[in-house]
Amino acid sequence: MIFDNWDQLEQAVSSCENCRLCETRIQTVLGAGNPKAPILLVGEGPGENEDKQGIPFVGRGGQLLDKLLLHVGLSREKDVYITNMVKCRPPKNRNPMPDEQEACIDYLRSQTALIRPKIIVCLGRIAACKLISPDFKVTSQHGQFFERNNVLLTATFHPASVLRNPPQRGLTVDDFIAIKEKLDELLASELGRDC
Ligand code: URA
Repeated sequence: MIFDNWDQLEQAVSSCENCRLCETRIQTVLGAGNPKAPILLVGEGPGENEDKQGIPFVGRGGQLLDKLLLHVGLSREKDVYITNMVKCRPPKNRNPMPDEQEACIDYLRSQTALIRPKIIVCLGRIAACKLISPDFKVTSQHGQFFERNNVLLTATFHPASVLRNPPQRGLTVDDFIAIKEKLDELLASELGRDC
């Protein structure tokens, strides 16, 4: 079911029992940031800290994400909305299973419809395989842009992966620079059309 207002969406997510993840969560994590942001960032699922605080990307990966945003001049509060493929923590931080992602996908569809972002950024393989293409390879396809229904989709490395693999850091910085440039381009062409 697609929700066309935030109140109903928040209420549905907070009481959701659509999959087994509801049995082990402390709380649901819907998302954070500007609900009118031009960029929607999509991770995998809440981790331990997120499950405790109810906010996405607040652990070490979140701190790295904040740095990446800051580095390219994007604000976590104003320019982006951050969410995950699943809104409940998978036990022991395992990857969310396909049926869990499917059970949660209408919440993400509702968020996308409400936010109407210009660019959707998949953080890591799980989001990229679900949102861009099932055989997506982050190592070779990160930073590429794909258009669907008038929205640009791209993927970069998951912050947790970057923390484990320092050589991915430079590539991820380059992807964030390209995302910011793409956004500036889109905003400039919109402005040109309005004048
Ligand atoms: N990893 C994710 O994919 N999402 C979070 O919110 C935190 C860690």
